[in-house]
Amino acid sequence: MTSSRVLVVGSGGREHALVWKLASERGVSDIVCAPGNAGISRLARCIPVDPADPHALVAIAQREELDFTIVGPELPLSRGVADVFADEGLLLFGPTQRAARLESSKVFAKEFMQRNGVPTARYRACDSAAEAVAILRSGEFSFPVVLKADGLAAGKGVVISPDLGDAESQVHAMMVDKRFGQAGARTVIEELLVGREASFFALCDGTRAIPLGSAEDHKRALDGDAGPNTGGMGAYAPSSLFDAATEAAVMRDIVQPVLDGMRNEGSEFRGFLFVGLMLTADGPKVIEFNVRFGDPEAQVVLPTIAGDLSVLLMSAAAGDLGSARVTTTGNCRVGVVLASGGYPDTYDTGKVIRGLEAAEALPDVNIFHSGTAKRGTDIVSNGGRVLTVVASAADYRSAISRAYEAVGKISFEHMHYRKDIGAKALT
Ligand code: AMP
Ligand code: GLY
Repeated sequence: MTSSRVLVVGSGGREHALVWKLASERGVSDIVCAPGNAGISRLARCIPVDPADPHALVAIAQREELDFTIVGPELPLSRGVADVFADEGLLLFGPTQRAARLESSKVFAKEFMQRNGVPTARYRACDSAAEAVAILRSGEFSFPVVLKADGLAAGKGVVISPDLGDAESQVHAMMVDKRFGQAGARTVIEELLVGREASFFALCDGTRAIPLGSAEDHKRALDGDAGPNTGGMGAYAPSSLFDAATEAAVMRDIVQPVLDGMRNEGSEFRGFLFVGLMLTADGPKVIEFNVRFGDPEAQVVLPTIAGDLSVLLMSAAAGDLGSARVTTTGNCRVGVVLASGGYPDTYDTGKVIRGLEAAEALPDVNIFHSGTAKRGTDIVSNGGRVLTVVASAADYRSAISRAYEAVGKISFEHMHYRKDIGAKALT
């Protein structure tokens, strides 16, 4: 087997989990991370760069003579990093800018699903506040109703409005006051789906997809799903709501139609497809697509994959997964995010983190760094989400208690975290 020199783009816990997995593989000889963080720097050479600048990333891949690039976050993909690499003849795993519209434009995603018969909430796309208000007043949708900014809004572009008055003021904030900038210039109004949420991941080569498994995120800041939305305060995998029949239905009714539809429309999808689902009484329906792995879902899903991920990702990037399959370890994993005081609003950074070694010494525990930096011999907080503490075990209950045992050994000033990650799996 030839071994590859790999570039991983990004700086969070998702990228740390990717780098950790790749570092254990025979097919990988060297890993560079752009820009990385303090935890990643123990496994890869970190190069400071703006990860959302496709040309700067190409320059690194060329200068360092790297064979293969894997992109963690959505922003470089929505800015066309895959297209820029392809133009230079460089192999990269991730969708083109056109294919990334499944995430970067909610209007595109909804219209695409409608054209291709993919189950999702009933919706209307609006180009002006007047149009949105007229639709809201027409009675076409009942309340609560869901309003979504079209573009990327760091997970904050979705509101659930209880009544017409609130919905009208939300439309005004998005479309007239431009609370999300140009991302809110167009909006989607959609019906509220009722059920439980789960995420599903597939590895796609443009034609074929391999299921990678399911997870459940915890988006709200506080226990019991209270408080504001965040990037994700923790996750567990696999989702307790998913069985083999649900997975088969999602692959057949959602993932494969998405791949076929994208190919037929001239923008083949190669990359991780993250399907946000509502499991409704009428079966699974799509809430959203992401064109990359989730964070913190990656931290609880990627470590369960047995065998060489790098080989699979390179085959998919080249457009041919062949008859490859993925086997997983079958363990339950729970990941608890440790966040800076104040997150998701303004927060302090630069707090010294203590207890990392003691936590990591526990069996079946991994600490993935989300926002950390080195300061002398210390590791300090350097983001809203600071660490993801992951434990694996044969059952959810043991994984939860092991994860919180590890959390108990770590401290930094004003650290906060949810105490109920994974509890949903036990109900
Ligand atoms: P999104 O950014 O599209 O994932 O939406 C953020 C969150 O809003 C989702 O995780 C759901 O909890 C909620 N949401 C979005 N769309 C709907 C819907 N049609 N019905 C119910 N909840 C929704
Ligand atoms: N955890 C949700 C996301 O990565 O978008």
